[in-house]
Amino acid sequence: MLDTPQMPVPVPGPVPHNEWPSLGAFIFRHNRAADGRVRCLHGEQGDDEPSHVTELAGLPADEAAFWRAAGSQGEALGVIGCEIDKLLRRAWIRGPWVAPGPSSVALEAALLDSLERALPDIDRFDAFPSEDDDTLAALYRGAGYRRMAVHRVMQAALGDAGAATATATATAVDSRITLARPDDLRQWLPLHHGLFPGSYLSDDEIAAAVGTAIDGGPRLVLTAWLDDRPAGYLVAMDETTAHELYVDYLGVAPAARGRGLGRALLCHAMRWAEARGRRRAALTVRQDRAEALSLYLQCGFQQTRAGVHWCKDRMAGAPPS
Ligand SMILES: CC(C)(COP(=O)(O)OP(=O)(O)OC[C@H]1O[C@@H](n2cnc3c(N)ncnc32)[C@H](O)[C@@H]1OP(=O)(O)O)[C@@H](O)C(=O)NCCC(=O)NCCS
Repeated sequence: MLDTPQMPVPVPGPVPHNEWPSLGAFIFRHNRAADGRVRCLHGEQGDDEPSHVTELAGLPADEAAFWRAAGSQGEALGVIGCEIDKLLRRAWIRGPWVAPGPSSVALEAALLDSLERALPDIDRFDAFPSEDDDTLAALYRGAGYRRMAVHRVMQAALGDAGAATATATATAVDSRITLARPDDLRQWLPLHHGLFPGSYLSDDEIAAAVGTAIDGGPRLVLTAWLDDRPAGYLVAMDETTAHELYVDYLGVAPAARGRGLGRALLCHAMRWAEARGRRRAALTVRQDRAEALSLYLQCGFQQTRAGVHWCKDRMAGAPPS
């Protein structure tokens, strides 16, 4: 039997902040196949290469980190990165992406290992590869990640007939929706934690966003009221790079469900985004949330992608073995 010669795997090194935009072309080229399928859903930043470059240029140095592996001529062979929340001690992995070659699987593993080792203060790593990407699934499984759940990525066109219908049906209950205030936020945060344990937005971040929409800020935080009590909420963001409304969280208290509050919250957010000139809304929903899926389909959302959430926890301060 003949041995296949093994190429040496280059050692990945950190990429200085001012060079992040230069990674945009490589990431875009390797994240999206010719048929439109993507590999890493965290790594999809807009529809084209300039959107990726712009997004990378706008990422603060203390909220993200990137590594690159290069060949002998300095040409990029592989890239990995992540967004970091130092308070939550979490990292959301982007990639890895590698140029095809005999060592590509080993290089992906080396990139992931270098990222984990370089972030000793991170307790939890989250990855979101496309559901049909078997290579990344094998990588994360092999690196000790747990397979959590399948999530659907959904989009709706704003300002079209679908959104208009959704808007019309919401009108009757619109008076029950207000911009959130600090008092009602405190009342619905326990509901939020119950519905979404491990929320990627901290309470402080949500609290800081309350009321900012009045001054034209990009975050929207809404409260839905029933019998003079907060009974539901929505948190969304006007994503200026992706040119879309992104709905982070939507929830209604179990006792208040089925009365139109969920739809009213969503439609209010869609109208708000339309008023800001957005033509698209997007969100991610766990595939087993049947009520939410039904609501989103009714409001004009369609699935564009599906991804698997992989997660790895480790003790504070302990580098991976
Ligand atoms: C999804 C959720 C926000 C809906 O809130 P709600 O106030 O009950 O929704 P509405 O009364 O406005 O109903 C709107 C639509 O949602 C869907 N829906 C609501 N309850 C449903 C149920 N029990 N079964 C199936 N579909 C349901 C229907 O499509 C409904 O439209 P219809 O009444 O014309 O059939 C609520 O069920 C919830 O908080 N779920 C848990 C958290 C969650 O999944 N959030 C979304 C994650 S991305």
